[in-house]
Amino acid sequence: MKRLMMLGPPGAGKGTQAQKLVEAFEIPQISTGDLLRAAKRNGTELGKQAAPFMDNGKLVPDALVIGMVKERITLPDAKNGYIFDGFPRTRTQSEALDEMDVVLDHVISIEVSEPELIRRLAGRRSCKECKAVYHLEFAPPTKADTCDKCGCSPLIQRSDDQPAKIKQRLIEYAAETSPLIEFYQGKGILVQIDGEGDPKEIKKRIQSALGT
Ligand code: AP5
Repeated sequence: MKRLMMLGPPGAGKGTQAQKLVEAFEIPQISTGDLLRAAKRNGTELGKQAAPFMDNGKLVPDALVIGMVKERITLPDAKNGYIFDGFPRTRTQSEALDEMDVVLDHVISIEVSEPELIRRLAGRRSCKECKAVYHLEFAPPTKADTCDKCGCSPLIQRSDDQPAKIKQRLIEYAAETSPLIEFYQGKGILVQIDGEGDPKEIKKRIQSALGT
């Protein structure tokens, strides 16, 4: 059983690196952002309740997110472990993990400067069908505006990647989530990773820090 968590500000590369670790460890990525966006798209009750928070760059209330995660980790693909991407994001969420008897092996904190975060978020594009993630400058698709994986076009920009929303998400991160760095450091399970540079290099840094 391996339980990892990707921690870091918006645009740090949590999703990008979690995807790489999925292949390396053969355990699923559990991205609360992806789950909430799917709930929104599908018009579920959870999606309707989460939408106004997400659309304004605010955190979704703890109770909604915790309930969603509780359910997700009982699915069969999670029986050998998982990589949390974007959860927990508040002290209440981390306490909820304790109540679920979920013990994290490592918390991977990805560190990136604010100007670089803004560049990454502003240039991010994704496929509306298969959800593959690109960057206009750093990770462009082979054919302009077309997904390499499924051929879908055009690629889309996330609604919360607009400048005003990015600013709000960074404020939420600083207030609610960044205190978790010290919290998990205190537990002795925090791994701090320089998140700038080639994504493949960053993956190597993570694996070497985890001793794998
Ligand atoms: P979520 O989807 O989790 O967004 P986020 O944390 O803001 O993180 P991002 O997905 O924006 O960035 P990332 O770190 O994954 O970076 P990525 O790899 O894509 O959450 C969205 C919303 O949902 C929240 O605002 C909130 O409302 C709600 N929510 C979610 N979880 C919640 C929770 N637990 N509690 C309450 N609310 C919750 O990379 C970004 C870009 O950079 C890409 O274009 C990529 O190609 C590029 N890139 C990646 N690595 C590199 C690199 N090394 N060099 C250059 N470019 C790179």
